[in-house]
Amino acid sequence: MQKPTLRQHLTEADVDRDLAGLIDDIASACRFIADHVRHGAFQGNLGAAGSTNVQGETQKQLDVISDEEFAARCRSNPRIAALVSEEVDDVNWLKTDPQAGDFIVYYDPLDGSSNVDVNLSVGTIFSVVRLPQDIEKADENAVLIKGDQQVCAGYAVYGPSTGFVLTTGQGVHGFTHHPGSGEFLLTQPDMTVPAETSEYAINSSRAEKWETPVARYISDNVAGKSGPRGRSFNMRWTASMVADVHRILTRGGVFLYPMDSGNAASGGKLRLMYEANPMALIIEAAGGAASTGRGRILEVDPTGHHQRVPVILGSKDEVAVIERYHAEG
Ligand code: AHG
Ligand code: MN
Ligand code: MN
Repeated sequence: MQKPTLRQHLTEADVDRDLAGLIDDIASACRFIADHVRHGAFQGNLGAAGSTNVQGETQKQLDVISDEEFAARCRSNPRIAALVSEEVDDVNWLKTDPQAGDFIVYYDPLDGSSNVDVNLSVGTIFSVVRLPQDIEKADENAVLIKGDQQVCAGYAVYGPSTGFVLTTGQGVHGFTHHPGSGEFLLTQPDMTVPAETSEYAINSSRAEKWETPVARYISDNVAGKSGPRGRSFNMRWTASMVADVHRILTRGGVFLYPMDSGNAASGGKLRLMYEANPMALIIEAAGGAASTGRGRILEVDPTGHHQRVPVILGSKDEVAVIERYHAEG
């Protein structure tokens, strides 16, 4: 039997029509971004753009192209009040008089873009909240809304196939782009993260900068069967959060990008609004957990839209172990 398309799934799941329309626009943006990524080598779009973003990071040409593509596909949606991108300094207000219930869309247009030149998986991450009330001023403070208010989050992963993973709060569903029809078809309904795991993901080259709880957790894992954990662990790190999270949603695991002495001044490496919050909503909806090590990511009070936070997410029991290491200091 033919698998349901993304549109059919949204109708069957009784997703609010405005939200379904927005998800459709975002999915369409991701289809176009996938195309840019696939054609990067022919169009001379691999490599650096020669610019830096607001966070001082070197932009890839495809970071800039993906950001423009995402905005172009969403801009005409009348229910979006503002677009907030990792690659753009300021909030892009699309309405001068936003109403309660209008959407704010936060996005990381091309996650893991350092992997583009080496032909490894990259992705697009997005998060949607509704404006809680009619706001007096459409300014930057109006978009500082806690992660537990997200009504939808998802990502596209541009790998051997293009995947699209989505939650509207209940359940997480995975779609695959079908090149013949151009549709996203439901291939992984009800994705769940197993509670237990023996696989972790961390950039170990930063070990000398780690805080004690993280250093202790990793050294206990590496000690294997004869160590305090009493079992062997496997390690994977792709340097694309989407690819690491996609693996965790498929077979379990835990992902850590902790605060360390190299990134403490910024609060961590990963961005709260574009990376941590959407992935936390997805992982929790799939039965996993998402923490800063010292509290739930979805309860972090945002202080700036480009804010960074420590991120620890994945299999519930393993996140609990890492939180215990943090509590023990
Ligand atoms: P982006 O490409 O959007 O800047 O994000 C990269 C992020 C994330 O995807 C990944 O987990 C992490 O940065 C990789 O960091 P390292 O290069 O320090 O491993
Ligand atoms: Mn990213
Ligand atoms: Mn990015």
